[in-house]
Amino acid sequence: MNEPIARLRALRSVELRTVACPESVDFYTEIWGLRTVEQDHDVAWLRGSGAQHHVLQLTAAERNGLGRISFAVSTPADVDAAARRLEQLGIPVLEGPGPVADAGGGYGLRFADIEGRVIELLTGTYAVAELGRHDAVPVGVTHVVLNTVDIDAAVAFYTSVLGMRVSDWSEHQMAFLRCNSDHHSIAFNQAGWTSVNHVAYEMPSVDHFMRGIGRLRHSGITPLWGPGRHGPGDNTFSYFADPAGLVCEYTSGIAQVDEDRWLCRVWRRIPELSDTWGTAGPPSPQTRTHMAGIADPGAFERFPELRERIPGAVEASEIGAGVRVAAGKY
Ligand SMILES: [Fe+2]
Repeated sequence: MNEPIARLRALRSVELRTVACPESVDFYTEIWGLRTVEQDHDVAWLRGSGAQHHVLQLTAAERNGLGRISFAVSTPADVDAAARRLEQLGIPVLEGPGPVADAGGGYGLRFADIEGRVIELLTGTYAVAELGRHDAVPVGVTHVVLNTVDIDAAVAFYTSVLGMRVSDWSEHQMAFLRCNSDHHSIAFNQAGWTSVNHVAYEMPSVDHFMRGIGRLRHSGITPLWGPGRHGPGDNTFSYFADPAGLVCEYTSGIAQVDEDRWLCRVWRRIPELSDTWGTAGPPSPQTRTHMAGIADPGAFERFPELRERIPGAVEASEIGAGVRVAAGKY
């Protein structure tokens, strides 16, 4: 593989499949700080204060899991070119390229990665008016951390196929990947099975970040872990469990990468670097359990033949049964 299939501009939105859809819609809109853009009986599209039509789609499901990750590309021609490149690489396109019927519109395509996660490339979506940045509410989604059974294979796929760059490693346990100047939009965590580790929402400043934590505290919700500040990425963190047990994070101040100057480094996994403020302490077993989630076959459940068709797809046995707790997340 030489040319990536597209030039990704940004992480746009995330779809989560959730066992507690109505409760989670209430949580994310009444407490977390998102707003409903559209809603159907078993799905809701929620926005932040930024211009994205929606940043989170919640879809009712029998098991928690990742619905899809959507990245912004520049033009429909980029989507069409990506479809041609995927075909050359032997990676099946699940939907598109073409106009998207979902809320938010646009022109896009969907395909699955080597662990069955659905990736969407989108352009020309509806924008919404920005809401201003006074309130302590998220601007949008800024990164997703994914548990993987093979971190080297995951990094190879996202760098070669999607053109992402590795900003940093945390030993051989986590890899932080960027698609723009943000230090990471995706990070992988070596784990016992494939699942979502957490979704992070950008607060405009440390003050917004702390006020957001305060608002949750007044609703009787305390962080699973945090507040603190990570070494890799330099971002603040405070992790919470949503009503389905999926982990969401308030963060601010992510490091900005100058492509001409950035040197990727391997961070040691020591408490002073996991939390440079020293305020959070180590993550509890409960935090690790929430971040491990349950094994998520993703698109491989709906399309079992995909695993045989995607070059380098992981074996079914490697996905695991979801009974062990993934260890070592920071
Ligand atoms: Fe995070």
